[in-house]
Amino acid sequence: MKIKTAEFVISNTDIKKCPTDNLPEYAFIGRSNVGKSSLINMLTERKSLAKISSTPGKTQLINHFIINDNWYLVDLPGYGYAKVSKISRKKFEKFIWDYIEKREQLINLFVLIDSRHEPLKIDIDFMNKLGQKGIPFSIVFTKIDKLSSSKLSKNLNNYKKKLLVNWEVLPKIFTTSASSKIGRIEILNYIDEINKSLDK
Ligand code: GTP
Ligand code: MG
Repeated sequence: MKIKTAEFVISNTDIKKCPTDNLPEYAFIGRSNVGKSSLINMLTERKSLAKISSTPGKTQLINHFIINDNWYLVDLPGYGYAKVSKISRKKFEKFIWDYIEKREQLINLFVLIDSRHEPLKIDIDFMNKLGQKGIPFSIVFTKIDKLSSSKLSKNLNNYKKKLLVNWEVLPKIFTTSASSKIGRIEILNYIDEINKSLDK
C-alpha cells in the first residue's frame, strides 16, 4: 500500500471527541518509550508526524492521523511509566481503556514490545486483559536494530512460550525497526488486507 497522504487530525483524552466519520482505525499501544510514535512516523515516512522523545512519557493524548483520506493511525500514551504521578497514571489508564473498549471504529490494536527485553509481566498482563475483553490485537517487537539476530530469536521464543501459557493460538507477530524500516511493508500490507475485507 502506498501512503499518499498522512495528516494530523485531532488530539484529546475523550473518546466522544474523536473523529466521527466512522473510518477504520489502527492504534498503537505499549510501554512508554517502546517506539509507538516512531513506528507511526516510519510507516508513514513522515519524520515528525507523531512527536517522539528519548524521555518516556512523551505522548499524553489520543492522537488521530488520517491516512490516504480513508483510514486512521492512532498514537496512544504509553503505560507503565513510573515517573508519572499515580493520579495521572490512573487518569491515563482510564481514558486509554475507555478508548480500547468503546471505540467501535478500532479495528486492530498493535501492542508494541521492546525486542531487547525478557517477557515483562506488565505486557503479558495487558495482552491477557485484551484477550479477556475480546479486543483484536497483534504484537510488534520494536527496536530490532539494537540486538543481534540470534538474541532476537531467543527473545521472541521466550515471549511466545510465555504467551502460550494462556493462549492456544498466538496473535499475528511483526518485528520492526524504525531506523531501518524493517517491518514497514508487512504492517502496511496487513492493514491494507483488513481495509479491503471491510470494504466488501
Ligand atoms: P511515549 O510516547 O513516551 O509512550 O513513547 P513512544 O512509545 O511513543 O516512543 P518514541 O517513539 O517516542 O521513541 C522513544 C525512543 O526510542 C526515541 O528516542 C526513539 O528514537 C527510539 N526508538 C524508537 N523506535 C526505535 C527503533 O526501532 N530503533 C531504535 N534504535 N530506536 C528507536
Ligand atoms: Mg509516543
